[in-house]
Amino acid sequence: MLAATARLARRPVQALAKDARAPGVALSSTVRQLSTDFSSYENIKVEKKEGRVALIELYRPKALNALCTPLINELNDATEKLDLDADVGAIVITGSEKAFAAGADIKEMQSKEYINAYTTNMFANWANLSKIQTPTIAAVNGFALGGGCELAMLCDIILAGEKAKFGQPEIKLGTIPGCGGTQRLIRAVGKSKAMELVLTGNMMSAQEAEAKGLVARIYPVEDLVDEALKMARQISSFSKPIVQMAKEAVNASYEMSLEEGCRFERRIFHSTFSTEDRLEGMTAFVEKRDPTFKHK
Ligand code: CAA
Repeated sequence: MLAATARLARRPVQALAKDARAPGVALSSTVRQLSTDFSSYENIKVEKKEGRVALIELYRPKALNALCTPLINELNDATEKLDLDADVGAIVITGSEKAFAAGADIKEMQSKEYINAYTTNMFANWANLSKIQTPTIAAVNGFALGGGCELAMLCDIILAGEKAKFGQPEIKLGTIPGCGGTQRLIRAVGKSKAMELVLTGNMMSAQEAEAKGLVARIYPVEDLVDEALKMARQISSFSKPIVQMAKEAVNASYEMSLEEGCRFERRIFHSTFSTEDRLEGMTAFVEKRDPTFKHK
């Protein structure tokens, strides 16, 4: 409740426009009591870095960062806290050099039955990540398979190390993607490639993923996280509310027709004129100086 109130209080401008968040689990229904302590996590590491950015490392090395329920709960908890932190302008999520994440935890799922999967709405809360307002960058080295690929696609930008591999191999386990793989992949790579990945379980290289538009940029393995942090700092150097509005407008295209989306975009564009940072940005240009954004 506390978080929901804080979130609403921080969104006066967007509140003027229609909320474009995806339908489904409302974030406010899943938020927990907030504290700023990240030290109790066992499956992720969270670090706030200079330049108003945060780095989250998925950390289950023995299981190739398989995404067990406690890991997802910690990730949601951390990203909700960071989203409300005025001193965080962008979040980088990464794994190890071998695996971003090798999917949902198969050992945890193995003995589950339908009634449990259905009544607990298994995996519905994974999408919380896509509902935060702060931009997220997935820095993918190694395997991003199944839920790992889906987790990367829940982020706003995917950067890849040159040996990264993406895939939806659930078909080999007698199941199908359950966290948006069939829906988000097709939007990123088109029907034919999405069908190939989902129906065969084949993996796609970083180079192919970049060529198809799933990945924004590729870097040498050892440079990837630094480059992701650099991009996060670049985003964080801009006005936080304006960045959030830009993200909201781009994401609206998932949900709306072109005409609705363009009208939504225009309304948000209009609402930037209610911020001090819009005035500062344009004034700085006219006065031939760098802007000083106050994030309001
Ligand atoms: N869940 C649980 N444990 C996993 C795992 C997963 N998704 N992926 C890997 N592991 C574990 C392995 O069981 C192994 O543990 P043990 O040492 O205790 O046996 C350890 O991680 C190392 O894995 P491998 O020995 O298999 O490593 P490898 O280098 O030989 O192979 C791999 C790497 C190709 C990624 C292989 O581990 C693999 O195929 N993993 C499963 C990938 C997969 O099917 N993902 C989809 C999961 S379902 C899903 O995600 C549904 C959804 O939509 C959310």
